[in-house]
Amino acid sequence: MQLNIYKDHHTLSLEAAEAILATVKNNPTAVLCLATGDTPAVAYELLVKKAMDEQVDFSHCIFIALDEWVGILPENEGSCHYFLESRLFKPLNISASQVHLFDGMATDLAGECKKMDEAIAAKGGIDLMLVGVGLNGHVGFNEPGVSADLYAHVINLDDITRLIGQKYFQQNTVLKQGITLGLKHVLESKKLVMMASGLKKAEVMKKALEEEINILMPAGIIRMHSQGVVMMDETAATYLTVKPA
Ligand code: PGA
Repeated sequence: MQLNIYKDHHTLSLEAAEAILATVKNNPTAVLCLATGDTPAVAYELLVKKAMDEQVDFSHCIFIALDEWVGILPENEGSCHYFLESRLFKPLNISASQVHLFDGMATDLAGECKKMDEAIAAKGGIDLMLVGVGLNGHVGFNEPGVSADLYAHVINLDDITRLIGQKYFQQNTVLKQGITLGLKHVLESKKLVMMASGLKKAEVMKKALEEEINILMPAGIIRMHSQGVVMMDETAATYLTVKPA
């Protein structure tokens, strides 16, 4: 695992955008799984701008969802669907045939998971997975205590996730379950980038990177990934004892 610390959120975002662009330049048919959330939002803005400026062709890439809230309509501004559509797919002109998202409204959620697992396998796996980290150490909706042995699955959300998740919604919203790629997908991705920003993530990043790898801290799994890169800003790295020179 590699650890890169940047001076601030903007620099971190620029470097994350560059990492995505480099993947697509090297492999125009790359399979990308890009997380939603506040952490990567600026990186995606910069990615869209750079992709346009440099005329990078995304028309042969495949986009895979990391997760979705169960029971939330895709049109809801708090859905992962809406986030990806408005910030990446629309501005990058991505067609529906390039995209595999979870339908959080599906009656057959197990079927949704199976479809996603099959889509990923059919595309030869995920080339680049970019994830954030929750305040409870989750990755996607792989909540503390989840089995590391799962592909896509439905999970009961942790109390912290249900509470923090309200920030994405305009009104108080009942959040009970999530549908998510599993830690097996995370570990099997060919490259894994984990982003963290701000003092509020400092404690969780210290635990993830410095305490014994433990399933109560799913983000720690990045240390088991041979192509894992942690990209964080200085404030998120505040409590790390060992920092790169
Ligand atoms: P955030 O979410 O980027 O909005 O902090 C991270 C996460 O919950 O995975």
